[in-house]
Amino acid sequence: MPPWDDVEADLRKVWASPQITVGAYVRELEAEVAQRQEVPHVIAVSSCTSGLMLAIRALGLSGEVIVPPFTWCASGQSLLWHGIEPVMADVLPGTYTLDPASVASRITERTTAIMPVTVFGVPPEINELEALAATHGLRVLYDSAQSMGTKYRGQPMGGFGDVEVFSMSPTKVATSVEGGLITTRNAELAEALRKLRDYGKGPGGDIIDLGLSARQSELHAVVGLHSVRRASQYVAARASIAAHYQARLGSITGIHFQTIPEHAQTGWNYVTIFVDGARARLDRDALQKALLEKGIQTKRYFYPALHLQTVFEGIRGRTDGQVPVAEKAAREGLALPLYSHMTTEQADRVCDAVSELLA
Ligand SMILES: Cc1ncc(COP(=O)(O)O)c(C=O)c1O
Repeated sequence: MPPWDDVEADLRKVWASPQITVGAYVRELEAEVAQRQEVPHVIAVSSCTSGLMLAIRALGLSGEVIVPPFTWCASGQSLLWHGIEPVMADVLPGTYTLDPASVASRITERTTAIMPVTVFGVPPEINELEALAATHGLRVLYDSAQSMGTKYRGQPMGGFGDVEVFSMSPTKVATSVEGGLITTRNAELAEALRKLRDYGKGPGGDIIDLGLSARQSELHAVVGLHSVRRASQYVAARASIAAHYQARLGSITGIHFQTIPEHAQTGWNYVTIFVDGARARLDRDALQKALLEKGIQTKRYFYPALHLQTVFEGIRGRTDGQVPVAEKAAREGLALPLYSHMTTEQADRVCDAVSELLA
């Protein structure tokens, strides 16, 4: 959360205002993000999940959409809500982002889009994926939930593909407490999305499209605005903790960190180690349990892989066993504690515990 002193005066103004949702602070948040992410249109919504659902509707997607299984459930759930089949393509070893070669092998005549995902702050292989999409006439919708602070070839996330959707939920680099941001270069799409976040309301109050009640309140926008203003400071603080983790834990047998390609800049939404149970002294789940016994909370992340979750049972047969890199990543990934106000001493406590258990 941004410091209370940052938000107090603005929260008081909202309290005194007759406009407590989609008002001046939502517009200010949208303008701030547009400037920061270098994208002309930003639509603040209630969550990344609702933003993805609206973006899928606005793009008119149908049939099949290709997604990585190493992601949060919402990437696939947003497709299920539209009766679209999420088709799993594998991820690349190291970065664990969507593998363009695997995507190419999954394209059929029913495919309408690709949904690449930013993984822990590391962007997907945008040039390769967009070239593939252009060749096959597909839309590209980015699940940019974890993209605040992320850059691809020097360009901040926000303006890639047809549309991107960021999350501002509690564990993100910049939070609105709960919230999401849809970003696009397409003015027409932006206008449609503004209607869709408000039920699909047209002129005169007529409901002209199947929208959602997915607005962002002014209170949430105040928190979001001040978080976004401090995002660079938060990313730098996280980068320094992540570097400390890597320096202290990087050489332990059987664990490795996510690879950050030279052309990418991570926003350090998460720092995740991958624990190879065959080589390390403990496997991932045993390490998590032992750390919890020492009072250190970690997160198996992403876990389970998307297609192995109960809600995706109907599509499992198509992809089970054909995404080995994603399945291994889901078995091995453990997100370590990381937050923007974390101290080096706190990180050292984690490092001491991990070293004691694994070294
Ligand atoms: C990759 C990814 N997609 C989607 C979401 C959903 O975001 P929200 O909780 O804002 O709907 C998250 C949230 O953690 C996420 O990490």
